[in-house]
Amino acid sequence: MQFIRFSDLCANGQAKGKRVFIRADLNVPQDDEGNITEDTRIRASLPCIRMALEAGAAVMVTSHLGRPTEGDFKPEDSLSPVAARLGELLGREVPLVSNWLDGVEVQPGELVLLENCRLNVGEKKNKPELAEQLGKLCDIFVHDAFGTAHRAEGTTYGIAQYAPVASAGPLLAAEMDAIGTALANPKRPLIAIVAGSKVSTKLTILQSLADKVDGLIVGGGIANTFMLAEGLHIGKSLAEGDLVDEAKKVIAKMKERGAEVPIPVDVVTAKTFAADAAAVIKDAGDVAEDDMILDIGPKTAQLLADKLKAAGTIVWNGPVGVFEFDQFAHGTETIARAIADSDAFSIAGGGDTLAAIAKYGIDQDVSYISTGGGAFLEVLEGKTLPAFEILGKRAAA
Ligand code: 3PG
Repeated sequence: MQFIRFSDLCANGQAKGKRVFIRADLNVPQDDEGNITEDTRIRASLPCIRMALEAGAAVMVTSHLGRPTEGDFKPEDSLSPVAARLGELLGREVPLVSNWLDGVEVQPGELVLLENCRLNVGEKKNKPELAEQLGKLCDIFVHDAFGTAHRAEGTTYGIAQYAPVASAGPLLAAEMDAIGTALANPKRPLIAIVAGSKVSTKLTILQSLADKVDGLIVGGGIANTFMLAEGLHIGKSLAEGDLVDEAKKVIAKMKERGAEVPIPVDVVTAKTFAADAAAVIKDAGDVAEDDMILDIGPKTAQLLADKLKAAGTIVWNGPVGVFEFDQFAHGTETIARAIADSDAFSIAGGGDTLAAIAKYGIDQDVSYISTGGGAFLEVLEGKTLPAFEILGKRAAA
């Protein structure tokens, strides 16, 4: 997809002296006292902000934080802790501006943070009057918030309709490029790992990927439902009996294309779901009525690891077992290390996946780690995200 890259505008001197409005995703977790507990998203926003400042722009940045009620400011909804953290990371003061819709005082070379954009009435539903007002605030709009690229809100979509120029920031552009590499024109074999507790939450992803991938590795409760579809017993494991037919359809669709959904040949079971539960490895055909499957077994893990090492492209969403408990972590660790060792282009996303990547310290060995939660999932579903759609439209106009 064609879109205007903010980096090109900066390189061509087109941002110099201009009012640049950056929509970042600074929606970071906080503890009860408002302290930021994890700042990856703030760090990920720095290249765009630095790029704009170095290009000589007057820089406004905004983000949502949580899901506040529009028009009803509460102290806990404030971006104030984000302004402080941003200031520390950039080594400069970052003033926080409230009530900014009627215009913002900011000079070239300066940076201000605009208070939580979801406090503006009409933001969520992208009301046209608000969108128009937002468009007037800047000369160049920069969408750099992949985490909200699946939302058509005032600052993620409406402003892009009305701003004189609408561009993609470096983070959004990198996400678009990585996803394009992984899904639009992948080096084969393309293998996707889709794991998680429920088929129902990822059914459209499974259906969409079944048209594209050469191997679809399922894990967690999803794998249990697929085991049922293959006529295996899963005891009292988490599964969705009413979606067995859907799982069968995915398997059939893959088979028709000469692709496969590898079903576990062995599993790790326990009698209870607990941190101290005893783990027992069993062949997939030997699961007892009172067993719960909490991980793939070592033979399965090795088979999958071999496939991943031979892959051209890997898309990873979801751990294959209860990796928070060490005795059920072997499958996820083996998958993680196989991805790290593989020469394939690999892209990973989703909260649990990122936690697994952090646990096994393989972040430098995954080709691209997406910052998007819901947005990443919607891309895997085959949807065109509103951010991509409007930026493409504006680039074509
Ligand atoms: C996220 O946390 O996934 C993004 O910041 C989007 O937040 P939202 O789901 O509230 O739109």
